[in-house]
Amino acid sequence: MAIKTGRADSTATVVIDYERCTACGLCVQVCKGVPLYLEGDQVIIDPDRLFGCVGCGHCAAICPLECITVEGRELSASDLLPLPPLDSRASYQQLYNLLFSRRSIREFKEREVEQPIIDKIIDSVSTAPMGLPPSDVEVLVLRGREKVSQLSGDIIDYFKRIKWMFSPAVLLIMRPLLGKEFYESSKTFLAPAINFFIAEKEKGIDYLLYDAPLAMYFHVSPYADPVDPLIAAAYAMITAETLGLGSCMIGTVAYGFRYSRELKRKYGIPAKNQQGIMVIMGYPKVKYQRGIKRSLAGVSYY
Ligand SMILES: Cc1cc2nc3c(=O)[nH]c(=O)nc-3n(C[C@H](O)[C@H](O)[C@H](O)COP(=O)(O)O)c2cc1C
Ligand code: SF4
Ligand code: SF4
Repeated sequence: MAIKTGRADSTATVVIDYERCTACGLCVQVCKGVPLYLEGDQVIIDPDRLFGCVGCGHCAAICPLECITVEGRELSASDLLPLPPLDSRASYQQLYNLLFSRRSIREFKEREVEQPIIDKIIDSVSTAPMGLPPSDVEVLVLRGREKVSQLSGDIIDYFKRIKWMFSPAVLLIMRPLLGKEFYESSKTFLAPAINFFIAEKEKGIDYLLYDAPLAMYFHVSPYADPVDPLIAAAYAMITAETLGLGSCMIGTVAYGFRYSRELKRKYGIPAKNQQGIMVIMGYPKVKYQRGIKRSLAGVSYY
């Protein structure tokens, strides 16, 4: 049975050129939608087996003789491209150096981010894994300071309307419903942050989106794994670094989009889409001199 997602409701179609197929079995080995199986010395395609063809493209990507084509679920034969040579791919050390040198940047030059750079970020983000193909991740691009500032103003206006919910008295009454952790983080982070954003905006300072010249909000359909937009945002952040841009994830914006249908409507986000995350970007005005060694809360082996 076909897996229903935001963009697909039927299986993709697999075609094998049996004249050339040697029945090596590689495609069968990697096919986790399970429509492919070996019977004697022939690969059989059964579109009704388990999920049928989910359009992951793995069979076509692994076949040494290029004798499989997959069409459907947003995939077509023209999406299968040659791999870049091994020595042109980033090494562990190159990637680690890039990651270690990255800092969250909240101070940006006036310079706008050029469209070809934005296109490169989107191309790179499109390579990210997703819970189920085809990806349901959508990105809202706010290009230019004016647009970013408009969104910031709209989110802060929304915060003004709901800030009563974060007053000490309301939080205390709601504590049994909120749970200990959400109560504590609302009291120590969300409530003071919201009040601070509002007060600073009144002075003309944007502490929410830091006058960034570019912002991308990654969100996803209700069918998808809620983690998909977060992975996309991480890819965007790493790509931005390679292009000389500074970036910073902004978690607070998502609260606005999560609870306000009006904001979703205004910015073209489908009403039922799940909460995502924003990444602001721009050419950095500051340059850090040292990296920071960080730690995880835990590493355990079982
Ligand atoms: C999920 C997430 C949400 C974040 N939200 C914000 C935010 O709303 N505002 C902000 O200034 N920084 C935000 N950050 C950036 C973090 O504060 C930053 O990553 C952290 O301080 C560590 O600094 P570094 O990125 O330079 O290592 C966020 C980061 C993540 C991963
Ligand atoms: S990988 Fe290619 S050659 Fe091998 S069995 Fe599948 S279709 Fe045939
Ligand atoms: S595209 Fe994926 S699911 Fe479809 S036949 Fe190929 S490997 Fe299997």
